Amino acid sequence: MCGIIGYLGYKDAYPILINGLKKLEYRGYDSSGIAVFDNNGYKLYKTKGKVSELEKKIISGSIIQGTTGIGHTRWATHGIPDDINAHPHVSNSKELVLIHNGIIENYHSLKVILLKHGFTFKSQTDTEVLVNLIEYIQKKNKLSLEEAVRISLNEIIGAYSIAIVERSHPERIVIAKLGSPLALGINDREFFIASDPIPFIDYTKNALYLKDGEMAILRKNKELDLRKILNNHKISPIIKELKINIKEIEKGKYKYFMLKEINEQPKTILDTLRGRLLITDGLIYIDSIESNKDIFLKAKGITIVACGTSWHASLIGEYLLEELARVPVEVEYASEFRYRNPIIKKKDIVIVISQSGETADTIAALELAKKKGAFVFGICNVVGSSIARNVDAGIYTHAGPEIGVASTKSFTAQITVLVLLALKIGKYRSTITDSRYNYLCKELGSIPDKVNSTLKIDDTIKRISKIYHGVNNFLYLGRGINFPVALEGALKLKEISYIHAEGYPAAEMKHGPIALIDESMPVVIIATKKGCYEKIIGNIQEIKARKGKVIAIVNEGDFQVSMLADHVIKIPNVSEELSPLLTVIPLQILAYQIAFILGENVDQPRNLAKSVTVE
Ligand code: G6P
Repeated sequence: MCGIIGYLGYKDAYPILINGLKKLEYRGYDSSGIAVFDNNGYKLYKTKGKVSELEKKIISGSIIQGTTGIGHTRWATHGIPDDINAHPHVSNSKELVLIHNGIIENYHSLKVILLKHGFTFKSQTDTEVLVNLIEYIQKKNKLSLEEAVRISLNEIIGAYSIAIVERSHPERIVIAKLGSPLALGINDREFFIASDPIPFIDYTKNALYLKDGEMAILRKNKELDLRKILNNHKISPIIKELKINIKEIEKGKYKYFMLKEINEQPKTILDTLRGRLLITDGLIYIDSIESNKDIFLKAKGITIVACGTSWHASLIGEYLLEELARVPVEVEYASEFRYRNPIIKKKDIVIVISQSGETADTIAALELAKKKGAFVFGICNVVGSSIARNVDAGIYTHAGPEIGVASTKSFTAQITVLVLLALKIGKYRSTITDSRYNYLCKELGSIPDKVNSTLKIDDTIKRISKIYHGVNNFLYLGRGINFPVALEGALKLKEISYIHAEGYPAAEMKHGPIALIDESMPVVIIATKKGCYEKIIGNIQEIKARKGKVIAIVNEGDFQVSMLADHVIKIPNVSEELSPLLTVIPLQILAYQIAFILGENVDQPRNLAKSVTVE
């Protein structure tokens, strides 16, 4: 997956493109490139590494001027990250310049055909095949660029969002989309292209999200020309006003977005609950659940599908829905679900959970579930994302833009939505008593304050991080609803500090991981009072007997575990169902502090990307 950007108008394109690319780096940052066009041709720069490297290269080269340009930040799929594989890619005649986010699955067979026609290739990318295919079709049939693009795209199997410019016509950019996201910002006499609207909201709030199978021809001082790739039919553009607050995407006083996002959680959970939980009336009101009440009431089973952190939230959802609504739940990795002919019948409920709403495997799982006739319900953060647009109904998490690659506030927002959903369905199905329902609703309303108090343990965690940042392995243990939190804690540490970490159900430790424990092995154990507290004490004894170091997350007022553990992190008391909303906070901070001490780039960990829009 990659980020793409483009500009066509009357302003100098370079600053718009370079600043936009910086905002898209969450999509990939192993190489980047820019091409800026004027009437004499174009200047193209590309380089391995982050956008800051590209910026250095351009400053040391000649200044690029021109009012048309395209740029790209890459996360390698075909070919290693280097200067040659970086985008933009240029056709053999050097006439066409293309940027691409996605994967051309049939690129190899197309490349064989093009080689036979005398085309040569410098890079290992699928994108270079596409730009030459367009050139081949254009020259052979003497077509306009847009028609050559359209015909070529009809030959493509895979996913793409692209922007292409012809050297002799810098007054025009052709863009198209299938599978990968593409937003278009529109101002008087200028167009902005980007993988998401954040790079252009400083310039315009009028935007259009291209739909799959659509292309647009952007011309200087002309109206937008939107068409269907399949048959060239004209489409009337529906331009909407974006409602994004610029403050939400700035770091403010924080060194990293991840730290800002961890600290935002009291507010984001409140935003997730806003207008949905009316504590005083003991009321949960969510339109998309209300209008599908019958489906949820009669549910015989629910399948939840997701990837990464969203998959961990799904496991918590399983616990909540089974406990409160007494519906059997299966949780699946989207990447597995999509390839294994799952047993899904007409009207079955499939819930897809995704922060970005653009994860390729989750989108494919959604499509499969729809094909099988399921009712697909989405839990997404990004408004207007592919998943949000394609589900039958759903709930936005309203966590705001999450920029740090390691997901934090989205996770707690997803859990908050799952609690609301489980309580609401439990109420429909009368599987929860009124008093328990009312109690949990009230407690849910107090969670933002409790998260706020939990965040104050920062200093304790800094001390612990200083002691353990040099170890090679960490073990995370939890039971019941806090087992997925242990998985999430281990994932956070791996993602940003590159220390190996494993999450395990505490009682499973004796079936394997116990062999690893010695005096250099820190074990983080979620030991809150509910959830088999006595058994957890037993697990701690087992670790101590092998000289392991215990970092325990306990409730305020805890005595027994605190006596045994080497380090104690205290969090407020809360019902077990809601406890993941608090227990995960110290684990997020621990991962952050360790990565920070190690001097890692917390927001942009190596090899990872915020949204994985390829398989
Ligand atoms: C990537 C991100 C993870 C995220 C996962 C699923 O791997 O680095 O943080 O949890 O994708 O993303 P989604 O947007 O579908 O929740």
